[in-house]
Amino acid sequence: MKPTELRNGIYWVGAIDWAVRDFHGYETPRGTTYNNYLMLDDEPTLVDTVKYDFADITIKNIKNLIEPSKIKHVVINHIENDHATGIGKIMPLMPDATVYMTERARKGLERFFDMSGWKVKTVKTGETLKIGARTLLFLETPMLHWPDSMVTYVQEDKVLISQDAFGQHIASSARFDDEFVTCASIQELEDAVWDYYANILMPFGQLIKAKIAEIVKLGLQIEMIAPDHG
Ligand code: FEO
Repeated sequence: MKPTELRNGIYWVGAIDWAVRDFHGYETPRGTTYNNYLMLDDEPTLVDTVKYDFADITIKNIKNLIEPSKIKHVVINHIENDHATGIGKIMPLMPDATVYMTERARKGLERFFDMSGWKVKTVKTGETLKIGARTLLFLETPMLHWPDSMVTYVQEDKVLISQDAFGQHIASSARFDDEFVTCASIQELEDAVWDYYANILMPFGQLIKAKIAEIVKLGLQIEMIAPDHG
């Protein structure tokens, strides 16, 4: 798959895993995707870095759009293997980039990577990063799906990059839910949504309700959700 523009200057640059059939111990008969996003702005920014085995694919997609060394910021919303381990191949290509993550994410990631040469900035709920025309707002979402997790909201575009939240395990050439429904069915999409929620997020249902209430209180207008799966 080539990069797909979601909104003006915001691109999906991820990878599709057609073959995976087991994820966190449950069956994934439809495979999955490892989504990540590149924003072309004054200070180009990459959000999430996919699974290590698929890093070459996202690097190729990034190179289709920009020379990786020009990327100024890398946001890690969640450090679990399928979202963050690609950073091992990606960081050497963008040595000047600053990496943004929660404090818990930093502590977790440094168990697996030598981060001594990286510029790392830890962020908390409510902190923002101006990358040009766009402003990124970070919101911590602990236990959704791990203690380190956060989401990134692109204020001007009203896009929520939600990592595991709102995901589905579906491998498809469709990048948008309405495209998927056209080529498959609404039933298959809904089944995948329920399967994902039941297996990954349901134990944290009370936390999810509280987090949604917090987001509503913040008054964020969300026009597009860009999850890291599906
Ligand atoms: Fe998609 Fe919590 O990993």
